[in-house]
Amino acid sequence: MRARVAGWSNTVADLLPSVAQQHQADATAGIGPPLWLLAELTYRCALHCAFCYNPTDYTNHNRELDTAQWIDVLREARALGAAQLGFSGGEPLMRDDLEVLVGEARRLGFYTNLITSGVGLTDKRLAALKAAGLDHIQLSFQDSTQELNDFLSSTRTFDLKHRVAAAIREHGFPMVLNCVLHRYNLPHVDKIIEMALAMGADYLELANTQYYGWARTNRAQLLPTREQLEAAEAVVERYRHTHGERCKIFFVVPDYFERRPKRCMNGWGAVFLGIAPDGAALPCHAARNLPGLTLPNVAQTPLREIWYESAAFNRFRGFDWMKEPCRSCDEKTEDLGGCRCQAYLLTGVAANADPVCDKSPTHERIVQLVRAAVAPGETHEQPILFRNDANARKLAAGQHAANAAQTSVQAAHTDRCGGGNTL
Ligand code: FES
Repeated sequence: MRARVAGWSNTVADLLPSVAQQHQADATAGIGPPLWLLAELTYRCALHCAFCYNPTDYTNHNRELDTAQWIDVLREARALGAAQLGFSGGEPLMRDDLEVLVGEARRLGFYTNLITSGVGLTDKRLAALKAAGLDHIQLSFQDSTQELNDFLSSTRTFDLKHRVAAAIREHGFPMVLNCVLHRYNLPHVDKIIEMALAMGADYLELANTQYYGWARTNRAQLLPTREQLEAAEAVVERYRHTHGERCKIFFVVPDYFERRPKRCMNGWGAVFLGIAPDGAALPCHAARNLPGLTLPNVAQTPLREIWYESAAFNRFRGFDWMKEPCRSCDEKTEDLGGCRCQAYLLTGVAANADPVCDKSPTHERIVQLVRAAVAPGETHEQPILFRNDANARKLAAGQHAANAAQTSVQAAHTDRCGGGNTL
């Protein structure tokens, strides 16, 4: 299974293979339609997960589209050809208009998926979501133990999640569990699978942490050793063999342990369209990482114009943006150069080859990070920074200072060389 950015469901993609294939085929002829719409309704969340993929400066983007604006987004996206819709966040249940949006999505013909921590998913709301036509719920757990589940989310939600899982089943939704893996819970992967089986899960997504957002901030604490990862993968294989009929288990390998990069989002501006809570349109989950990329906003610009004409969505389409070694690489049509956000986060330049690729001149950086990973049981001197407003403000202030420093370095470089661009 190829890796993907945390937050998007492989299981849902798996449920819609024919639609996906059809649109991917169309996309090769030019710019295809956005197939997957991810509506990040809010950055508000009761949990404080150490690996959250939301921007670390989310407090700088706390405006939210209203109900009418979201309905416009759904209509415009459906008219463009979007078929699969994820409601995400933050915690989408923080929005009390979720049922209204699900109902509208259903009328428009979307296949809908709710990506939730379970906090706020009461019996009453489950019934209302069912009546509104929601197809699918993906419930996250942090671990099979109360201690680690509650530590990693910095909440007491383990028992609540068990109750919610049972209620999801009682209301007739497919049982889809998601657990993000890292060095703390990889040794528990057998127990996590047992927990999913005991709950009657139809699908279990074991998504190894990808290092964006808060996970990037906590990378030194979360990155597993290669031995941990291989041991967990062997356990998963064993369960697939014995229980594969009962529960489909996905194991998403972390990029840092690969030698070829993922075809991130199936290509920039190819099939994925994310809308952030404030209406910013995202070519990928982590696009807010990229300085110098002006994200268009649905409150000002029609979605069709954003998708087909905006500079942000066209920035990394095709192959012309590529530098060497990607430009002349005979594998570029396979991986499309990998992940732009990863290239930026690890090299400072988004158009560089994704350092996951062992043909990249910066691949050694990843090799060294993996080599330095701390074994289970050992501790890292740096404390985990949990996702909360206070930490977000602190990180935003640090980022602001770093951006200012980078701008002055670039200005000096431009003065000297007439160039310089992180994109
Ligand atoms: Fe891969 Fe942004 S997350 S391109």
